[in-house]
Amino acid sequence: MQPLLLATRNANKTREFRELLGKDFDVHDLSFFDEMAIPKETFADNAILKAVAASQDRRVQDRHLVVVADDSGLEVAALGGAPGIFSARYAGEHASDKENIDKLLSELARRNVPLDQRSARFHCVIALAHEGKLLGKFEGIVEGSIVDLPRGSGGFGYDPIFVPSGFDKTFGELPIELKNQISHRARAIRAFRAGLPAAQRGD
Ligand code: IMP
Repeated sequence: MQPLLLATRNANKTREFRELLGKDFDVHDLSFFDEMAIPKETFADNAILKAVAASQDRRVQDRHLVVVADDSGLEVAALGGAPGIFSARYAGEHASDKENIDKLLSELARRNVPLDQRSARFHCVIALAHEGKLLGKFEGIVEGSIVDLPRGSGGFGYDPIFVPSGFDKTFGELPIELKNQISHRARAIRAFRAGLPAAQRGD
């Protein structure tokens, strides 16, 4: 029997692989090993997928367009980095911003996370692609913390509960011009402006 290590800790997946592969394979999984960091999807993976896929579309190619894609989200330290890449659908597939915010605040409340331990960051990766080729990817992060109740109506998503470090207002309360100077997206775009010529040269 050929030994095979399945890179999962999901016992159901392991069972189904065993059933599907039959007796030619001796399937083990990661429960066999204590610690092993296995990367999952990342903001960068997702941004690249989006940019490359759009740049392969015939209509986009006919117009010689360079495509830029953004993948971004909120990472809350006390929730082990959640909602992360699931930010848009934290409370369910078509969840509204309010439902996502409510879920995040209730998760923090359920864990009794005090206000001074609510550090979080917004994370953004933008990817650029042309005719199916990745031209470059650029990252931006803004550190901050999560408040106990939403404040302000500016911006979108989790803006009403995120206070950037060095400020006492949420992104929902601060003027958009200020958000656009310090945000994760602003930082990724600054990196893009600085790095694009090199990326286009293929360095
Ligand atoms: P995606 O990149 O389309 O997966 O979605 C990103 C999600 O992260 C958004 O739907 C928001 O919930 C959240 N997010 C990303 N950037 C921001 C931001 O600038 N302010 C607030 N929420 C954001």
